[in-house]
Amino acid sequence: MGDESRNRSKSRIIVTSALPYANGEIHLGHVASTYLPADIMTRYYRLKGYEVYHICASDDFGTPILIKAEQEGKSPEEYVKYWHDRDEEDFRAFGISFDIFHSTSSRENVEFVQKIFQSLYSKGYIYEKEVVQYYCPYDNKFLPDRYVIGRCPYCNADNQYSDACENCGRVPEQILEPRCAICKREPVKKASRHYFFRLSAFADRLKSWLISNENLQQDVKNYVLRWIEQGLQDWDITRDITWGVKIPLDDAEGKVLYGWFDNHLCYISTALLLARMRGLVNEGSTDREFWNSSIIYHFIGKDIVYHHYLFLPAMRLGDSNYKLPDYIPTRGHLMLQGQKISKSRNWYISLRDFINIFDPDYLRFYLALITPYSQEDLNFDWDEFASRVNGELIDNIGNFINRALSFAGRYGIREVREDYYDGEDRESIKEIERIAYEVGTIIERNELDKGLRRILAFASHFNQYFQSREPWSNIKSPNKEDQGRAYNCIYVSVNAVHSLALLLAPYIPSSAERIWAQLGMDGSVHEQQWDDASRLMIRVGHKVGSVKPLFRKITREEVETQKKRLGKYIAHG
Ligand code: MF3
Ligand code: ZN
Repeated sequence: MGDESRNRSKSRIIVTSALPYANGEIHLGHVASTYLPADIMTRYYRLKGYEVYHICASDDFGTPILIKAEQEGKSPEEYVKYWHDRDEEDFRAFGISFDIFHSTSSRENVEFVQKIFQSLYSKGYIYEKEVVQYYCPYDNKFLPDRYVIGRCPYCNADNQYSDACENCGRVPEQILEPRCAICKREPVKKASRHYFFRLSAFADRLKSWLISNENLQQDVKNYVLRWIEQGLQDWDITRDITWGVKIPLDDAEGKVLYGWFDNHLCYISTALLLARMRGLVNEGSTDREFWNSSIIYHFIGKDIVYHHYLFLPAMRLGDSNYKLPDYIPTRGHLMLQGQKISKSRNWYISLRDFINIFDPDYLRFYLALITPYSQEDLNFDWDEFASRVNGELIDNIGNFINRALSFAGRYGIREVREDYYDGEDRESIKEIERIAYEVGTIIERNELDKGLRRILAFASHFNQYFQSREPWSNIKSPNKEDQGRAYNCIYVSVNAVHSLALLLAPYIPSSAERIWAQLGMDGSVHEQQWDDASRLMIRVGHKVGSVKPLFRKITREEVETQKKRLGKYIAHG
């Protein structure tokens, strides 16, 4: 791992987070599985000195968005613009550091998608076929995707949309007992010419890619391989609606591409746009090389595994210009107080509401701690949130930092007498010397929760160290050696605070910035080098800044108020 990271030290990394649909607020579920892990990774690699770009965009097209815009009496353009801007603000307030937040309906993406369509079409990977489609005679509409609900033919779950079964994760194009989602009546069938993507032609190539890519999570790989075994269906990529990327063929009037054809291509088109905007494409080199010479990460939640492990790579294989992802970190769903998140039952917490009440870093800290690198679902629990933040962030980390810095502020960081060091001091210095590499390796394995736990163990170590050294009594001792030991302890402890500021920077970026300032350092903690967390950078004579408590504890009442809000109907939504 260490060698690998050194070999890659000149590398460029493109990190993408799954594109949020431009039709509603970002909530805790989105953040836990996707945006927060992607942001922690991005911030870590920036500190490691890599050239990293975090790319995202709003996912603007598709039937559900059109339905909602219609309901609100807005044009789809107007409607998605609102959510695009709103989501971008929320992400910023939460400290998600995108390099660019673009949109799938942008000119850049639409042109790029049409180019890829042409390429796949000319290679025979897209073909035309007459399909008989559901049509609602009451609403006078073709009924693609979410317009039809019914029973999933794979797992038998009822009330599933025809474009995604929430129960088994597959795409049940041939839904059973169909009903119109608008009027709930039975639709009729009507013929229409559609375009299909030949997913079935990629089975072997997808299989060998999945097997050979060792960065992918084994458990996800296993079930994707099972889907391939069971046979891949070609994908209908046409929709008889007006809101989408126009199919770039003469006889395709009134038809647009399915949202899952264009949205993931926006990862590439947006990265290329950023490269052009920042002048990152070297002369004599192409856009394509910019993408292909990067390490590619796509962060997703487990509900879109099918799309990212099969559909997306197949399209890239078919076009054969842009490389496949190196990593697709996939995480489970967030539950709320042990129950599934549901907007309609108001069993749901929006990101905006949350960070209006609590420091965004509290949420980042807690979610990072409970979110494993796996498909397992995780649970947001208000009491646990309060006890983890109060106990581990504030009592452990905050308390140590505050004690060490207050001491250093009062007595100064004076002469170090190495001849007074004992085993405990030396062990503490070793702990500093190994921490950057240890946490870094864990983060590079994508085990962000474990990385944070390792940092907590570091803080506990130094709490105990500080406690057992008793610098508060030693410093007043008439004995020169006792005094010397107290100054040694201050020196080592303040250096541990310096390490903590760096180690925490990816996880709780604004708190880390406050630690940096209280430590009396210049500039921003986010512009430092990760490996400095293992160096004794704070020298004798250094002056700390003005020291005050970093955090405020969460009270019992605050938690009870939040618990009561869940599940209650709120008129304005
Ligand atoms: N908007 C989709 C969702 O929320 C995710 C799109 S990710 C993309 O499920 F890559 F495909 F764009
Ligand atoms: Zn109807």
